[in-house]
Amino acid sequence: MSILAPDARITVLIDENQLGARVRELAGEIVAAMGPNPLLIPVLKGSFIFAADLLRALHLAGAVPDMDFISLSSYGADKVSRGEVVILRDTEAEIAGRDVLIVDDILESGRTLAFAKDLMVARRAKSVMTCVLLNKSGKLAVQMSADFVGFECPDKFVIGYGMDVAHAYRQLPFVGAVED
Ligand code: IMP
Ligand code: MG
Repeated sequence: MSILAPDARITVLIDENQLGARVRELAGEIVAAMGPNPLLIPVLKGSFIFAADLLRALHLAGAVPDMDFISLSSYGADKVSRGEVVILRDTEAEIAGRDVLIVDDILESGRTLAFAKDLMVARRAKSVMTCVLLNKSGKLAVQMSADFVGFECPDKFVIGYGMDVAHAYRQLPFVGAVED
């Protein structure tokens, strides 16, 4: 338990230094694979802090990235997954001809990332790659893997670094797990 954790029920899984170091590595991998002008499309809301750090790390890695946003949900109001992804807020940028990097917080069933990737392919992106901060392996419901993965994630509900439980804890500078 870190003294940064504000709540006795939260365990730090990945601290600020580990996040920063891995984000810088990811930026190098992304520039090597995609070239200097990726269009980042973070999937809101959970990926917004990761994407902001990644954008600045891409600058330090010599890239000139662009950024737009999409908001997707696979859950109804009752928080039960319907297994169907809907667009809550769409992108604004012209996608055709761009090197698109979809950025998400967690790859779990794979439905969200697969939906976003299919959408950008249908909009005739020149290339589409995917980057997730965390990979929850063993949970896939569709065939999907991310091109860039920050960390493998234990089978726990995680919060912090942009991710929430019931609208709480997005502001934490580390990735933590809520213990019951
Ligand atoms: P998928 O479509 O099942 O891959 O769902 C991935 C999405 O579920 C992520 O973008 C998150 O928004 C959400 N999610 C899955 N696991 C967690 C978690 O442990 N904490 C917070 N959000 C999660
Ligand atoms: Mg999400």
